[in-house]
Amino acid sequence: MTIQDVKFVQGFIRLCNDGWLQGWHERNGGNLSYRIRPQEVAEVRPFLHEPGEWRPIGTSVPELSGEFFMVTGSGKYFQNVALDPEDTCCILEVDDSGENYRIHWGLCNGGRPTSELPSHLMNHEVKKILSGGKHRVIYHAHPANIIALTFVLPLSDEVFTRELWEMMTECPVIFPDGVGVIEWMVPGGRAIAVRTSELMKKYDVAIWAHHGMFASGDTFDNTFGLFHAVEKAAEIMVKVISMTGGTKRQTIQPQDFRDLAVDFDLTLPERFLYEKKD
Ligand code: 13P
Ligand code: ZN
Repeated sequence: MTIQDVKFVQGFIRLCNDGWLQGWHERNGGNLSYRIRPQEVAEVRPFLHEPGEWRPIGTSVPELSGEFFMVTGSGKYFQNVALDPEDTCCILEVDDSGENYRIHWGLCNGGRPTSELPSHLMNHEVKKILSGGKHRVIYHAHPANIIALTFVLPLSDEVFTRELWEMMTECPVIFPDGVGVIEWMVPGGRAIAVRTSELMKKYDVAIWAHHGMFASGDTFDNTFGLFHAVEKAAEIMVKVISMTGGTKRQTIQPQDFRDLAVDFDLTLPERFLYEKKD
């Protein structure tokens, strides 16, 4: 048996490879983290080594004290994760204060966890609390179409949510809470982590203008599926704008969404169902 026989490790690697195959991970673009269940920590325990030094996370996540995470490494290529998980990923532990981490496995040729670790862990903290412990996956990638829209649409949660919902009937079913958007910020630090985790209090998706997207979910499948649905809706929007300049001949109307909400037992916030003036 190797660590790759453990189910969550397989799910982690599969998501990385699926994201690579979608074209969302040029070079070292994107990162993934998974909050490991206590029984899963026990499963991988035989493969862990003496932990390294405690190092600062760069922010404070007290609700995650003592938790273990599997995380991609900074500068590592998603295309290489399936080929060599021990070089490209790590398993780390958060200390009692929630301010430091240490590595128990992986990054065997050196390196450190993703530069977006503050965003990942702050998002995990918010989602762990709000989902009652269900959410375990935080995924960041650079999907081209959602990034393209951040040059064209106003950077508002309402506009992005409404336009994406209109692009595919299933979208409001898949992300009924909508998506959040933040203006361009310097990546990799605490400031963008704080802004992103604020959005994660309301949404499962946060779009970083001119950069990429974060998604949160309970399983690898649901997180990837959510990410995929948002990016596909963005792709359709890019095609519509490319064909027409943005004028739709017909679309799904606010009352259509209200009817959908009744039949699918959804709550769709009215702030996304505004009347458009053209
Ligand atoms: P890392 O290689 O440090 O994970 O950074 C990639 C990235 O997408 C930064 O936003
Ligand atoms: Zn990025």
